[in-house]
Amino acid sequence: MSLINTNKHIVITAYSLAELQTALKIQIGSEKIIGLVPTMGALHEGHASLVRKAKQTSDFVIVTVFVNPTQFNNSDDLSNYPKTEEKDIELLKTLDCDLVFFPRIEDIYPNEYLFPGIDLGFLDQTMEGELRPGHFQGVCQVVYRLFQLTNPNKAYFGLKDFQQVSVIQFMVNNFQLPIEIIPCETSRNKEGLALSSRNLRLTEEQKKEALVLFQTLSDAKLNSDKFNPSRIKSIAEKHIQQSALRLEYVEIVNPINLENLTNEWCANARMCIVAYAGDVRLIDNMEIRE
Ligand code: PAF
Repeated sequence: MSLINTNKHIVITAYSLAELQTALKIQIGSEKIIGLVPTMGALHEGHASLVRKAKQTSDFVIVTVFVNPTQFNNSDDLSNYPKTEEKDIELLKTLDCDLVFFPRIEDIYPNEYLFPGIDLGFLDQTMEGELRPGHFQGVCQVVYRLFQLTNPNKAYFGLKDFQQVSVIQFMVNNFQLPIEIIPCETSRNKEGLALSSRNLRLTEEQKKEALVLFQTLSDAKLNSDKFNPSRIKSIAEKHIQQSALRLEYVEIVNPINLENLTNEWCANARMCIVAYAGDVRLIDNMEIRE
């Protein structure tokens, strides 16, 4: 365990469960609100905005950095996942994060740890659930374990992974965990590209090409009062198919149950898009109806 003094503030880094437990014992008075920001590292401004939000609404902010193997169904994606530990710590220092936890695999998955599993129903059969079998079970498995280890009052997740937020909220309700899930707006660069650790693998050219996602979502929002969801979806599909990206899907969904919308709009309908720039899988979404 180390204490990093940032002049104003001390960031604790814990590299094992034992170090985490020591840090939690030292730091936490019973009245403090613990805020958890789970990440897989390669931190960027999007994560920074989650930490800032956590600092505003919790007393003690824990960031976890763990590239969770059980949520990857593509081994190349797992091995290509960027690792930037020193830079991550540097960024977290500037944000006055209280504790950074880099668990080892055996801290997260000790032999005796059995995730009960969860039936996510349709949430796991559509979009990312359908295309990445086992992904959300892996996400629930790791997040449940991180909740168990850090015991947070609040946990912060980016809406860029909109379906993930729905799944985690469902899990919290299902197991009646006393944790408030705080969804946080997607951070974008000034041209609109949603920030993601995977963007590190995009060339400058691909970053420009990827802007078609934001343009498509913004156009859909602008035109959603003129056409029904099916029509808006097919305009969006054409837009992306004519670009340099390779489209995987566009869906317009009810934000509560993720059911596809076709003829009728519902409040807060979301458009969700996945497309590839080269071999980099990009995901984005936007609320396109008030
Ligand atoms: O969104 C992510 O970075 C991951 O899915 C999470 C929530 C940290 C679980 O590994």
